[in-house]
Amino acid sequence: MSLLFEGRVVLVTGAGGGLGREYALAFAERGASVVVNDLGADTKGGGKSSAAADKVVEEIRAKGGKAVANYDSVEDGEKVIQTALDAFGKIDVLVNNAGILRDRSFARTSDMDWDLIQRVHLRGSFLVTRAAWNHMKNQKFGRIIMTTSAAGIYGNFGQANYSAAKLGLLGLANTLAIEGSKYNITCNTIAPVAGSRLTETVMPPDLVASLKPEYVAPMVLWLCHEQCKENGGLFEVGGGWIGKLRWERSRGRVMRQKNQAMTPEGVRDEWDRICDFTDATKPTTVQASLQSVIEVMSQVESEGEVGANPTVAEASLASGSGINPMKAVGQKLPPTTFSFTHTQCILYALGVGMSTKDPDHLRFLYEGHPDFSCLPTFGVILSQAAMMDGGLSSIPELSIDFTQVLHGEQYLELYKPLPTSGTVTSETTIADVLDKGSGAVILLDVNTYSGAELVCYNQFSIFVVGAGGFGGKRSSDKAKAPVPPPKRAPDAVMIDSTTRDQAALYRLSGDWNPLHIDPSFAAMGGFKAPILHGLCSFGFAARHVLRQFADNDPSRFKAIKVRFVKPVMPGQSLRTEMWREGNRVHVQCKVKETDAVVLAGAYVDLHGASSGAPPEHLTRAGGLQSELVFAEIGRRIKDSGSELVKKVNAVFGWEITKDGKNAAQWTIDLKNGGGSLHEGPPGGKADVTFTVSDQDFMEVVQGKLNPQKAFFSGKLKVRGNIMLSQKLEVILKDYAKL
Ligand code: NAI
Repeated sequence: MSLLFEGRVVLVTGAGGGLGREYALAFAERGASVVVNDLGADTKGGGKSSAAADKVVEEIRAKGGKAVANYDSVEDGEKVIQTALDAFGKIDVLVNNAGILRDRSFARTSDMDWDLIQRVHLRGSFLVTRAAWNHMKNQKFGRIIMTTSAAGIYGNFGQANYSAAKLGLLGLANTLAIEGSKYNITCNTIAPVAGSRLTETVMPPDLVASLKPEYVAPMVLWLCHEQCKENGGLFEVGGGWIGKLRWERSRGRVMRQKNQAMTPEGVRDEWDRICDFTDATKPTTVQASLQSVIEVMSQVESEGEVGANPTVAEASLASGSGINPMKAVGQKLPPTTFSFTHTQCILYALGVGMSTKDPDHLRFLYEGHPDFSCLPTFGVILSQAAMMDGGLSSIPELSIDFTQVLHGEQYLELYKPLPTSGTVTSETTIADVLDKGSGAVILLDVNTYSGAELVCYNQFSIFVVGAGGFGGKRSSDKAKAPVPPPKRAPDAVMIDSTTRDQAALYRLSGDWNPLHIDPSFAAMGGFKAPILHGLCSFGFAARHVLRQFADNDPSRFKAIKVRFVKPVMPGQSLRTEMWREGNRVHVQCKVKETDAVVLAGAYVDLHGASSGAPPEHLTRAGGLQSELVFAEIGRRIKDSGSELVKKVNAVFGWEITKDGKNAAQWTIDLKNGGGSLHEGPPGGKADVTFTVSDQDFMEVVQGKLNPQKAFFSGKLKVRGNIMLSQKLEVILKDYAKL
C-alpha cells in the first residue's frame, strides 16, 4: 500500500529551495495540503523575497496539488503556523528545515555570526514547533522533523556556531519525543547530505549535482506518515542511503570505595579502561544512563566495598587467589545432560532414608505402585552433573583449589512434579561471586529442562575456603537467602536415624566425592571419618516436611532452601523441627545425639491446601500482596496471551523482596507461544528484570508511586532493556481497580 497524505496538513520551513522544496513537492504529490514557508533570504540570512515560496507553490498547483505560501521568518513561529490554520484548518506535520550558514574559524566568529545561526536554526525550530504543539496535542497526532547536520554530530572546522545550533536541535528533539509520545506526536532528527546552494560552496559541482535532494525526501515522508511509529531517532541520510545513529557508553570504572576517596591520580591510572569500549552498553534513556551511577552509589554505601571493581579483583588474581568476579559472573558452564529411569529415582529415595518399613513410602520405592513418583528433592540430582563433571574448572577466572570447596547452601524449586524417567539438560550460569573474607562464595544458577520445558531451578552456593579477601562484595541480590524460623516451639518434630551406610548408599546417586567414603581423604579434610552428604540430610528434611504437611504428595512440593552448618556422621539420628507459616514450613535440623544444628535457616514451600491451615493463608504464600496482582496478570495472559505476545514480544523477570530479602520471583513471558506466567526465574534469559519490594510494587501498580520516581530513588531496580518497561503498561494498566 502506498503511503498517502490525503487530509494531512504539512508545513515545511525553508521550502523555497534545496531540500525543503523537494519535501514540499513530494508531500503535495501524495495528497497533502502543504504550507510552503520561505523568507527568501540569501544563504547568510540577508535579504527577503516572496519569490522563492511562490515559485514552489505554483509548481505544486500546476501539478494539481494543494499549497499556500508563507513568507515569515521561522522566528515568527506563530504566524507561520497561523497560515496553516487559516488555509487548511489544522497542522499535522512539521518539517523544520529552514537554515543559513555563517562559517568562520572560531576566533573570527562575531556575536552576529553566532546569534543569527542560533536564531534561525535552534530558536526558529523551537518557535514554530511550540506554535504547532498544542494543536497536535489536542488532535492526538503530530509528526515533527528536526534537521541537524554531520557538522553538529561530529564537529567541523569553521562551523562552531552552526555545529552548536544543529546539535541543540537534537537535544530539543530528544525531549519532544518523550513529551509527545503519549499524544501520538513523534519527533525525529535527520542529518541530510544533498547538493544545494548551501553546499555548493563546499562541494565540487558534480557532487552537488549527483547528491539530489530527492534521495532524502522519501525518508522524511516515511518518518512523517501515520504508519511510522519511530520516535526520538537520529538518522544520516543522503545519496540514496539511510543509517541510524545511537549513543554508546563504555563499561566504565568504579573509582571510589566507602573508605577510599576518589583521586585524580586514580582517574589517570584507570584512564585506558574508562575509555575502553569493549562490551560497551547503549543507554537510551536518562534512567539507563543513571542506572549504573545509582547502583554504584548504593553499593558503595551499603557494602563499603565495590565488588564489581575489576581493579581490586584483578589485583587479587595477580596475587594468586584466582578469582576474578568481574569476568566470571554471567559466564555459562558447559551444558550437561542426565538420563534416568525409575532405578535412579528409587536409589535416591533409599539414599535419603526411605524404607519399606513405612507403607506410605512404597510409592517412592516400587515402580509398580499405582502412584509411583519421584521424590521432589531428586531435582538436585538432575542438575548436579553440572558440578560433578568439573564444569567449574572450565572457567579460567575461577581457578580455585577444589580440595577447599564446601557446599554452603542449596535452593531447589520445581515447576512441575518430576518425571520418573527421561533425559534432562541443565544450563548453569555463575550468578555471582561473593567475598566472605575467610572464603569466597560462588552462586551457581542451574536451570534444568526436559525438552524445551523448564523442570526445575537449583541454586548451588559453593564456599571456597581461603579464596576470599579479593575485595569483592559480601552479599548478592541474586542469592536465595535462608530464613530463620519463628521464635516459638516447633509445630512438629520428626526424628529419623541414618544408617552406618547412608553415605555409601547416597553416593550412588552421583555424588562421588571421596570425602563421603574414603577415611584417608576425609582425614585430609580434617574429619575423623567420612561424613554424610549435606544433600542427603537435605533429602531427609524435605521428606519429613512432605510427610508431616503434605500427605507425602510430591505435587504439593514447590521449593526448598537450606544452609549447611555442620556435618552429620553416618549412623547419627536427625531431628527435624518444623514451623508452619501459611504455605511455608520453616525447618531446622539437628543431630539428635549432640543437639548440634546441621541445617539452618531452612524452609520448604508447599502448593495449595493442606491439613490445618486456615484458608486465608493459602492464597497468599509468604503473605505477599503482589501475588494477587500476578494472579490477575496470569488470568489476563490466559485471556489474551497471543495478542499480548504480538504487542510486547519480551520476557519480564520480577524479583519481589520483603524486609530486604528476596521473597518471590515471577516470570511474565510475552515472547514465546501464547504467553505465560510462572513463579520462579525465567527459563532462558529475561529481556528486562525488575527488583522491587512487595510494598513498592503495590504502590506502583495502584498508581500511588510513579515508576520513574521509584527508579530514581532506587526503590525499583531495573536490569536489561529498560525501554521495555514502557510496554508493561499494556499488562499493568487498570490495576488501581484491584
Ligand atoms: P537551502 O539554502 O537550499 O535551503 C534553506 C532554505 O531556508 C532557503 O530557501 C532559505 O531561504 C530558507 N531560510 C533561511 N532562513 C530562513 C528563515 N529565517 N525563515 C524561513 N526560511 C528561511 O539549504 P539546504 O541544503 O536545502 O538545507 C536545508 C536544511 O538542511 C538546513 O537546515 C541545512 O542546515 C540542513 N543541512 C543541509 C545539508 C546539505 O548537505 N544540503 C547538510 C546538513 C544539513
